[in-house]
Amino acid sequence: MAKGALALLIRGGTDNWAPERWKARFESELGDRAVVSVAEDRFDPRAVHYAAVWKPDAGALRAFPDLKAVFNLGAGVDAVLSDPTFPQVPLVRVSDEDLTSRMTEYVVMHTLMHHRQQAYLDACQQRREWAPRLQWPAKAVRVGILGMGVLGRHAAQALRSLGFQVAGWSRTAHAADGIDSYAGPDRLAAFLARTDILVCLLPLTPQTRGILCRPLFAQLARDGVLGGPVVINAGRGGLQIEDDILACLDDGTLKAVTLDVFEREPLEVDSPLWRHPAVRISPHNAADTDPDAIAAYVAAQIVDFEAGRPLRNVVDMGRGY
Ligand code: NAP
Ligand code: GLV
Repeated sequence: MAKGALALLIRGGTDNWAPERWKARFESELGDRAVVSVAEDRFDPRAVHYAAVWKPDAGALRAFPDLKAVFNLGAGVDAVLSDPTFPQVPLVRVSDEDLTSRMTEYVVMHTLMHHRQQAYLDACQQRREWAPRLQWPAKAVRVGILGMGVLGRHAAQALRSLGFQVAGWSRTAHAADGIDSYAGPDRLAAFLARTDILVCLLPLTPQTRGILCRPLFAQLARDGVLGGPVVINAGRGGLQIEDDILACLDDGTLKAVTLDVFEREPLEVDSPLWRHPAVRISPHNAADTDPDAIAAYVAAQIVDFEAGRPLRNVVDMGRGY
């Protein structure tokens, strides 16, 4: 009997999400199992047992009556869960070393940029000005991570090893050596009050939507060595209120921000965020999923699943992440 096919539903482009790149990788990992690109190939929908998706159109998965599991090609599943017609099958998200290390690189790089006053040094270079400022040590800076999941915990350890004072906030407590844990809504204020650089690695859920807003920014520490609070958001754009970010930068509630994700992506060309001197922007590429690493991850999970072993990193539909 032919093996159940894998269907690819990728809202892609020419970059990391080019569907043909993913199809070639899946074909090489899945051997004699058919891989079909829903946008391009002709196939029998009943032959499809698995789907690998990135931002699929709402309702698109209803086309497959014998679907057994869906693999989201990223860590965040908010786009998939916003589809009320999502079928009653397990949804597996990406959680692997490759993606995790990429996010830690991003968080460490931007934390260091703010800590080492890189925006000021860049401006000095533009003016050919040799004007070193006092530089404080990492141990003088309090970093707070919203979301102590797979990504938050890894980034926290890396920052801790550089000497920063690190704390994390999450739904449930996560004890770790040298990293203070704050859990639940009741502990958010205390966590914010000790934070100079706030890193957001939360998933987007009904509970977290819009959490990065003026009332939250106003609770961040104002007595730190940086001269004002800094926010780094690499979670999801729906976590932030961009009008609040701009207004808080302009009135000094925030000193600077790094944003990888936006309320609407791609960020509109006329967004004032592009030109704001205290905003650093990246195009939602803090931690790309690499087709080589993830095709192998999905292929191994299918082998396990068909052998009766449990799927890993299955999303809890009730929690929404
Ligand atoms: P994860 O392992 O599921 O961790 C999520 C963390 O958020 C957990 O610590 C969880 O608390 C916490 N959390 C969720 N809801 C909360 C709430 N209402 N209050 C307090 N804490 C809450 O996820 P992950 O793998 O670390 O990924 C996190 C997010 O990063 C993804 O969902 C995605 O949106 C984003 N991401 C972005 C990129 C990019 O390129 N920009 C790449 C990958 C991922 P508990 O530990 O108590 O459950
Ligand atoms: C990217 O944004 C991801 O969720 O993996």
